[in-house]
Amino acid sequence: MADQGFTSSTQAVPSVGSVPRHIAIIMDGNGRWARKRFLPRMAGHTKGVEALRGTIRAAIERGIEYLTVFAFSSENWRRPADEVSFLMQLFIKSLQKEVSRLHENGIRFRVIGDRSRFESTLLKAIAAAEDLTAGNTRLHLTIAANYGGRWDVISAVNRVLAKTAGMSEVSEEAIDAELSMSFAPEPDLFIRTGGEQRISNFLLWQLAYSELYFTDTLWPDFDALALDQAVASYQERERRFGRTSEQLSAVGDTGHHA
Ligand code: IPE
Ligand code: IPE
Ligand code: MG
Repeated sequence: MADQGFTSSTQAVPSVGSVPRHIAIIMDGNGRWARKRFLPRMAGHTKGVEALRGTIRAAIERGIEYLTVFAFSSENWRRPADEVSFLMQLFIKSLQKEVSRLHENGIRFRVIGDRSRFESTLLKAIAAAEDLTAGNTRLHLTIAANYGGRWDVISAVNRVLAKTAGMSEVSEEAIDAELSMSFAPEPDLFIRTGGEQRISNFLLWQLAYSELYFTDTLWPDFDALALDQAVASYQERERRFGRTSEQLSAVGDTGHHA
């Protein structure tokens, strides 16, 4: 990340503002949302797309620069085939429907994850959306699809090794530069909806110093108010990055105000 001018949280203390620059979300609880209403799980996924649309709008209004959401994990292939194929179709349809609106709103769209198992229609829709929005800077929206934190680190290490024949050691900077989120600062705030308190192989490397926020709200019910609650919780945290509270007050750093 050093290449892009972002501070690695383990190499130096990053500057921190009261509004998180980068929020990463595990959008969990679609199935339970549907089950509570005696609806098929798929209805929860469809409603989840609406919740994402609202969250994107709210993120823009609040000046958040990077929003990264987990849509499909590398382990979600273990689900029933009909659910997997529904999710893929929903991804394609949502992309086709929303891409012009994303572009009009100045959103830069990216997908991170292993695309090798995606069908060609999905690959084309992703490429078209990424190309169309490549010049936008208002909000960097990244969808993690067939993403796994371990896959990300292993792929990065392999790219580093491939670039330098005979290399015997890899550095943090070299790995950083090859990770799928190398274009972004590390997430300031991680949110998981749906009540589970785990990372589920999301951004393992990048979450090193992120503030973690867990809510019982099921993803389809997540809205601007829920986002504000998460940000309010973030603003109460003291981000020490290894230092003591006393050190923070000595330098007039509250831990969360730039
Ligand atoms: C998150 O909701 C969406 C995906 C993982 C694709 P779930 O489908 O995991 O919903 P729950 O956890 O079963 O309620
Ligand atoms: C994590 O949710 C992945 C996504 C939200 C895409 P899961 O529902 O798959 O996670 P686990 O299985 O409960 O850990
Ligand atoms: Mg789940």
